[in-house]
Amino acid sequence: MEKTKIAVLVSGGGTNLQALIDAQNSGIIKSGEIVAVISNKPDVYALTRAENAGIKGYVANKKQLGAGFENELVRILTEVKAEIIILAGFMCILSENFTKRYPNRIINVHPALIPSFCGEGFYGLHVHEAALKKGVKVTGATVHFVNEICDGGEIIAQKAVEVLEGDTPETLQRRVMEQAEWIILPLAAEKVSAQIMKQKGE
Ligand code: GAR
Repeated sequence: MEKTKIAVLVSGGGTNLQALIDAQNSGIIKSGEIVAVISNKPDVYALTRAENAGIKGYVANKKQLGAGFENELVRILTEVKAEIIILAGFMCILSENFTKRYPNRIINVHPALIPSFCGEGFYGLHVHEAALKKGVKVTGATVHFVNEICDGGEIIAQKAVEVLEGDTPETLQRRVMEQAEWIILPLAAEKVSAQIMKQKGE
Protein backbone atom coordinates (compact mmCIF):
# COMPACT_ATOMS: atom_id res chain seq x y z
CA MET A 1 0.00 0.00 0.00
CA GLU A 2 1.14 3.54 -0.72
CA LYS A 3 2.89 5.34 2.13
CA THR A 4 1.35 8.40 3.76
CA LYS A 5 2.69 11.55 2.15
CA ILE A 6 4.31 13.91 4.64
CA ALA A 7 5.06 17.61 4.15
CA VAL A 8 7.38 19.21 6.70
CA LEU A 9 7.07 22.93 7.41
CA VAL A 10 10.21 24.67 8.70
CA SER A 11 11.58 28.11 9.50
CA GLY A 12 15.22 27.68 10.46
CA GLY A 13 17.97 25.21 11.27
CA GLY A 14 15.83 22.14 10.81
CA THR A 15 17.28 19.73 13.38
CA ASN A 16 13.81 18.25 13.83
CA LEU A 17 13.53 17.86 10.07
CA GLN A 18 16.88 16.05 10.19
CA ALA A 19 15.55 13.72 12.89
CA LEU A 20 12.60 12.91 10.60
CA ILE A 21 14.89 12.29 7.61
CA ASP A 22 17.17 10.06 9.72
CA ALA A 23 14.14 8.15 11.05
CA GLN A 24 12.93 7.60 7.51
CA ASN A 25 16.35 6.30 6.49
CA SER A 26 16.66 4.00 9.51
CA GLY A 27 13.14 2.61 9.13
CA ILE A 28 11.65 4.14 12.30
CA ILE A 29 9.31 5.94 9.91
CA LYS A 30 8.12 3.19 7.60
CA SER A 31 4.48 4.12 6.96
CA GLY A 32 5.19 7.64 5.78
CA GLU A 33 7.35 9.37 3.23
CA ILE A 34 8.54 12.99 3.30
CA VAL A 35 7.53 14.39 -0.08
CA ALA A 36 8.18 18.10 0.52
CA VAL A 37 9.86 20.56 2.85
CA ILE A 38 8.29 24.03 2.89
CA SER A 39 9.93 27.05 4.48
CA ASN A 40 8.31 30.41 5.19
CA LYS A 41 11.72 32.04 4.64
CA PRO A 42 14.34 31.66 1.91
CA ASP A 43 17.92 30.58 2.66
CA VAL A 44 17.29 28.57 5.81
CA TYR A 45 19.54 25.61 6.58
CA ALA A 46 16.53 23.28 6.74
CA LEU A 47 16.22 23.66 2.94
CA THR A 48 19.84 22.53 2.54
CA ARG A 49 19.07 19.50 4.69
CA ALA A 50 16.12 18.70 2.41
CA GLU A 51 18.26 19.08 -0.71
CA ASN A 52 20.99 16.85 0.76
CA ALA A 53 18.35 14.19 1.40
CA GLY A 54 16.94 14.48 -2.12
CA ILE A 55 13.64 15.92 -0.90
CA LYS A 56 12.00 18.71 -2.84
CA GLY A 57 12.16 22.09 -1.04
CA TYR A 58 9.71 25.00 -1.43
CA VAL A 59 9.69 28.57 -0.15
CA ALA A 60 6.40 30.28 0.66
CA ASN A 61 7.90 33.66 1.49
CA LYS A 62 5.62 35.00 4.22
CA LYS A 63 7.14 38.48 4.17
CA GLN A 64 6.53 38.84 0.44
CA LEU A 65 3.23 37.00 0.24
CA GLY A 66 1.56 38.72 3.20
CA ALA A 67 -2.14 37.83 3.21
CA GLY A 68 -1.57 35.33 0.40
CA PHE A 69 0.84 33.23 2.49
CA GLU A 70 -1.56 30.51 3.59
CA ASN A 71 -3.05 30.23 0.10
CA GLU A 72 0.42 29.53 -1.20
CA LEU A 73 0.94 26.88 1.49
CA VAL A 74 -2.34 25.23 0.48
CA ARG A 75 -1.32 25.36 -3.18
CA ILE A 76 1.98 23.58 -2.50
CA LEU A 77 0.41 21.07 -0.10
CA THR A 78 -2.21 20.23 -2.73
CA GLU A 79 0.42 19.95 -5.45
CA VAL A 80 2.44 17.42 -3.45
CA LYS A 81 -0.74 15.64 -2.25
CA ALA A 82 0.33 15.97 1.40
CA GLU A 83 -1.65 13.84 3.82
CA ILE A 84 0.18 14.92 6.98
CA ILE A 85 1.69 18.32 7.68
CA ILE A 86 4.46 18.32 10.27
CA LEU A 87 5.42 21.63 11.83
CA ALA A 88 9.08 21.09 12.72
CA GLY A 89 10.42 24.35 14.09
CA PHE A 90 7.83 26.29 12.08
CA MET A 91 7.56 29.72 13.66
CA CYS A 92 4.26 30.92 12.18
CA ILE A 93 0.84 30.66 13.77
CA LEU A 94 -1.67 29.23 11.30
CA SER A 95 -5.18 30.67 11.05
CA GLU A 96 -8.35 28.77 11.90
CA ASN A 97 -9.23 28.95 8.23
CA PHE A 98 -6.08 26.92 7.49
CA THR A 99 -6.19 24.47 10.41
CA LYS A 100 -9.86 23.65 9.71
CA ARG A 101 -8.87 22.30 6.29
CA TYR A 102 -6.69 19.62 7.84
CA PRO A 103 -8.35 18.24 10.99
CA ASN A 104 -6.06 15.76 12.81
CA ARG A 105 -3.61 16.05 9.93
CA ILE A 106 -1.28 18.77 11.24
CA ILE A 107 1.21 17.90 13.98
CA ASN A 108 3.58 20.20 15.83
CA VAL A 109 6.54 19.72 18.13
CA HIS A 110 6.67 22.12 21.06
CA PRO A 111 9.74 22.39 23.30
CA ALA A 112 7.95 22.17 26.67
CA LEU A 113 5.47 19.97 28.51
CA ILE A 114 2.13 21.46 27.39
CA PRO A 115 0.18 23.07 29.12
CA SER A 116 3.32 24.67 30.58
CA PHE A 117 5.17 27.38 28.64
CA CYS A 118 2.99 27.34 25.55
CA GLY A 119 0.72 29.58 23.52
CA GLU A 120 1.48 32.81 21.73
CA GLY A 121 4.97 34.17 22.32
CA PHE A 122 6.32 30.82 23.52
CA TYR A 123 8.53 29.60 20.73
CA GLY A 124 12.17 28.63 20.27
CA LEU A 125 14.55 29.84 22.97
CA HIS A 126 11.85 31.94 24.69
CA VAL A 127 10.28 28.72 25.95
CA HIS A 128 13.48 27.67 27.70
CA GLU A 129 14.09 31.17 29.06
CA ALA A 130 10.63 31.06 30.64
CA ALA A 131 11.21 27.58 32.07
CA LEU A 132 14.52 28.66 33.66
CA LYS A 133 12.97 31.87 35.00
CA LYS A 134 10.20 29.86 36.66
CA GLY A 135 12.77 27.51 38.15
CA VAL A 136 11.11 24.26 37.03
CA LYS A 137 13.24 21.18 37.63
CA VAL A 138 11.68 19.17 34.82
CA THR A 139 10.68 20.30 31.36
CA GLY A 140 10.45 18.41 28.07
CA ALA A 141 8.74 18.32 24.72
CA THR A 142 5.25 17.69 23.38
CA VAL A 143 3.98 16.53 20.01
CA HIS A 144 0.35 17.47 19.42
CA PHE A 145 -2.27 17.90 16.74
CA VAL A 146 -2.73 21.48 15.62
CA ASN A 147 -6.13 23.14 15.79
CA GLU A 148 -7.34 26.74 16.01
CA ILE A 149 -6.00 27.15 19.56
CA CYS A 150 -2.25 27.89 19.64
CA ASP A 151 -0.57 24.79 21.19
CA GLY A 152 -4.06 23.61 22.20
CA GLY A 153 -4.71 20.50 20.09
CA GLU A 154 -4.79 16.90 21.29
CA ILE A 155 -1.49 15.63 22.72
CA ILE A 156 0.10 12.70 20.85
CA ALA A 157 3.36 12.26 22.79
CA GLN A 158 5.36 13.87 25.58
CA LYS A 159 8.77 13.25 27.11
CA ALA A 160 10.23 14.81 30.23
CA VAL A 161 13.79 16.17 30.46
CA GLU A 162 15.69 17.24 33.58
CA VAL A 163 16.72 20.86 34.07
CA LEU A 164 20.28 20.94 35.42
CA GLU A 165 22.00 23.45 37.66
CA GLY A 166 23.79 26.08 35.60
CA ASP A 167 21.62 25.52 32.51
CA THR A 168 21.36 28.39 30.04
CA PRO A 169 18.45 28.62 27.57
CA GLU A 170 20.83 27.24 24.95
CA THR A 171 22.05 24.21 26.95
CA LEU A 172 18.50 23.42 28.00
CA GLN A 173 17.21 23.75 24.43
CA ARG A 174 19.87 21.33 23.22
CA ARG A 175 19.08 18.74 25.92
CA VAL A 176 15.33 18.97 25.23
CA MET A 177 16.00 18.44 21.54
CA GLU A 178 18.40 15.52 22.04
CA GLN A 179 16.48 13.73 24.79
CA ALA A 180 12.92 14.47 23.71
CA GLU A 181 12.07 16.26 20.43
CA TRP A 182 14.27 14.24 18.08
CA ILE A 183 12.88 11.01 19.58
CA ILE A 184 9.16 11.67 19.99
CA LEU A 185 8.58 13.61 16.77
CA PRO A 186 9.61 10.73 14.45
CA LEU A 187 7.68 8.22 16.61
CA ALA A 188 4.55 10.39 16.43
CA ALA A 189 5.03 10.85 12.67
CA GLU A 190 5.13 7.08 12.25
CA LYS A 191 2.11 6.56 14.48
CA VAL A 192 -0.06 9.05 12.58
CA SER A 193 1.24 7.87 9.18
CA ALA A 194 0.37 4.27 10.06
CA GLN A 195 -3.13 5.29 11.16
CA ILE A 196 -3.75 7.10 7.87
CA MET A 197 -2.37 4.20 5.84
CA LYS A 198 -4.70 1.87 7.71
CA GLN A 199 -7.71 4.17 7.08
CA LYS A 200 -6.87 4.21 3.36
CA GLY A 201 -6.83 0.43 3.28
CA GLU A 202 -10.24 0.10 4.93
C1 GAR B 1 12.66 23.39 18.27
O1 GAR B 1 13.06 23.39 19.61
C2 GAR B 1 11.14 23.36 18.18
O2 GAR B 1 10.54 22.57 19.16
C3 GAR B 1 10.82 24.80 18.41
O3 GAR B 1 11.82 25.51 17.72
C4 GAR B 1 13.00 24.73 17.60
C5 GAR B 1 13.33 24.59 16.14
O4 GAR B 1 14.51 23.90 15.93
N1 GAR B 1 9.50 25.09 17.92
C6 GAR B 1 8.69 25.98 18.46
O5 GAR B 1 9.01 26.69 19.40
C7 GAR B 1 7.33 26.11 17.79
N2 GAR B 1 6.41 26.76 18.66
P1 GAR B 1 14.86 23.17 14.55
O6 GAR B 1 14.62 24.16 13.42
O7 GAR B 1 16.32 22.86 14.69
O8 GAR B 1 14.01 21.94 14.43
